[in-house]
Amino acid sequence: MSMETIKNEFLADLSAVEDAKQLSAFWAKYFSKEGQIQKLMGGIKNVPNEEKKAYGQAVNEVKVWAQGLYDEKKTEVEKKEMMARYEEETVDVTLPADHVASANLHPLTSIRNEIIGIFAGMGFDVFEGPEIEDDDHNFTRLNVLKDHPSRDMQDTFWLTEDLLLRTHTSPGQIRVMDAKKPPIKVLVPGKVFRSDSDATHSPMFSQMEGLVVDEHITLCDLQGMLDQFVKAMFKGDVKTRLRPSYFPFTEPSVEVDVSCFKCGGCGCSLCKGTGWIEVLGGGIVNNKVLENCGIDSTKYSGLAFGIGMERITMLKYGINHMGKLFENDIEFLKQFKA
Ligand code: PHE
Repeated sequence: MSMETIKNEFLADLSAVEDAKQLSAFWAKYFSKEGQIQKLMGGIKNVPNEEKKAYGQAVNEVKVWAQGLYDEKKTEVEKKEMMARYEEETVDVTLPADHVASANLHPLTSIRNEIIGIFAGMGFDVFEGPEIEDDDHNFTRLNVLKDHPSRDMQDTFWLTEDLLLRTHTSPGQIRVMDAKKPPIKVLVPGKVFRSDSDATHSPMFSQMEGLVVDEHITLCDLQGMLDQFVKAMFKGDVKTRLRPSYFPFTEPSVEVDVSCFKCGGCGCSLCKGTGWIEVLGGGIVNNKVLENCGIDSTKYSGLAFGIGMERITMLKYGINHMGKLFENDIEFLKQFKA
């Protein structure tokens, strides 16, 4: 083929190119190793020697000319495709957005976070123990001896002779004291299990254990901390009251009441007319428990408390049936916006 024919054909083919695919076919036809321009180069061997120089120059000119036109076309095709993409991907930012339901925390999780936040402000760390415990941690070393009624089959879910679903978060006290020497200031949140079920009890519920061990810890520290806690939790001018109680692992032991935040202490349905609401149990860590963990009870003393998290949640949000917290009823849960 003569140079002129190739040039004409090149121009005709080039003007027909519309997109990247055609452009690459075009490139293959003219610029690849088997392409027309390469062929022109190869044609030099059939040219008489004295014309070789002129032929070579002419082919080179064609090559430069063709490359220039090809580059122009390439830029044009790329621009065109870019514009088409812009066009296709245009987003109308003025359109109203689809409604996306935002998730919120389960009320129990919010309360757990809130409790941790309040005590973290007083310098508490958080530790989590296992839900499957052994007799030793759940009972014996907490001074709950073999004949104690809470070990009864009716309360405890036993898994084997020795293993059980923990009945409270207090075994966390033992685990922390085994792992760490005083001063200790720790919260142990978690699920606990007891064979119990009615409007205010569920076989699985959650507690928040608190433990402080240091020199000179007294009941005043317990009351001071819990005062701070209930004021932050229930807002406003609430007070605490300690009533004597009994737990094998604390001595003395107390039940802690908070003045009714609904009626201000005058008596209402929430506080059953008494003006007080029971919120947790606690006390001074029994010396036997400290000694069971190798802590010198002549030097150190401790305080401990256990908060029922469902109870706090129900009180705070006015929920009257504990089951509501576990049914996963979406309409119920939607009401709790974080
Ligand atoms: N473990 C006790 C319970 O489950 C609560 C408690 C914790 C009492 C710490 C005293 C000290 O009832």
